[in-house]
Amino acid sequence: MHTYAERAAARPRAAEPVILGIESSCDETAAAVLRGRTILSNVVRSSAAEQAKYGGVVPEIASRAHVDVVDEAVLAAVREAGIEKEEIDAVAVTYGAGLLGALLVGLSFAKSFAFALGVPLIAVNHIRGHMAAAYLADTSLEPPFITLLASGGHTAVLYTKSYTESEILGSTRDDAAGEAFDKAARVLGLPYPGGPNVEKLAREGEANIPFPKMFRGNGFDFSYSGLKTAVINYCHNCAQKGESIPRADVAASFQSAACGVLADSAVEAALQKGCKTVAAGGGVVANGYLRALLAERCARAGIRLVLPEKKYCTDNAAMIAAEGLMQYRAGNFADLTVNACAHIPLGKKGKQ
Ligand code: KG4
Ligand code: ZN
Repeated sequence: MHTYAERAAARPRAAEPVILGIESSCDETAAAVLRGRTILSNVVRSSAAEQAKYGGVVPEIASRAHVDVVDEAVLAAVREAGIEKEEIDAVAVTYGAGLLGALLVGLSFAKSFAFALGVPLIAVNHIRGHMAAAYLADTSLEPPFITLLASGGHTAVLYTKSYTESEILGSTRDDAAGEAFDKAARVLGLPYPGGPNVEKLAREGEANIPFPKMFRGNGFDFSYSGLKTAVINYCHNCAQKGESIPRADVAASFQSAACGVLADSAVEAALQKGCKTVAAGGGVVANGYLRALLAERCARAGIRLVLPEKKYCTDNAAMIAAEGLMQYRAGNFADLTVNACAHIPLGKKGKQ
């Protein structure tokens, strides 16, 4: 008696497999199809507008929205890819980290779809999906390289030494970069989603407020709590003195400090490891200021930068299929008993 995963691993594998990716960890229901590293379709249905009324993601609303659209999103991805569903070689799905109820919708759908088609199921760690988006941005990208991961839940600089292994060189000791953006947005009275709204406001201001320099710990560790406190204190002080808060300047100054440490760490890590390439991923990498800063710093240091298009930095299923491709090639398949997992630690420094 072999398990579903063992039977999948025993089958011959296509060189350029057609992989369906499904993502439902937060408020985006996404489905995408890849052939090898080529994106055939990328469908994203978002409940963000509904969530905005509540100032953030309400898990129950997210779960119900996924139930409403998951089948439509998957069928649209198959149709837009111009394939028949029978051409799919494997189904890759996010099993964590994220909102449990939300994850379960995509995962249950993916299990049934894979079983019905009789193809392997691949369980993808959402964060590794964000990191794998770079393989789609540059289809010739090969490890080793440095990965800058800056998302809502995790922020780290990693040494990606193979298609399936990354070593953490340093990470945030407290808030993730996206969390810091979202908190700054709240202090500035900006609506959900915080990050893009801080970026928008920052365009109208100047980075002229000398917030304390970002804390840098051992190696490539850093911390956002000092910067966050400085932003809060600055706004409170203005209010206490009866002065109006220069909101756009606060946003620009915060953004400059928050992104500076990311660009510095990534470039320093590349130089220290002798890597010629830096790849980036995660929602915060959709930030135009960070993208320009990375481009400038990497160019100055003679390092090649691989930046996924903005739509592949925020949540999408093409990145899940990309990580699925790497797992497919490594023969890592899941059983139909695989469960959703709300927390998957990025890990201590070292192997991922
Ligand atoms: O990577 P992601 O999907 O989160 C996790 O998987 O954890 O990205 C969401 C995060 C949010 O914190 C959001 O505010 C931030 O990315 N974000 C941005 C921008 N777009 C999204 N932060 C700054 N500037 C942006 N343009
Ligand atoms: Zn994400």
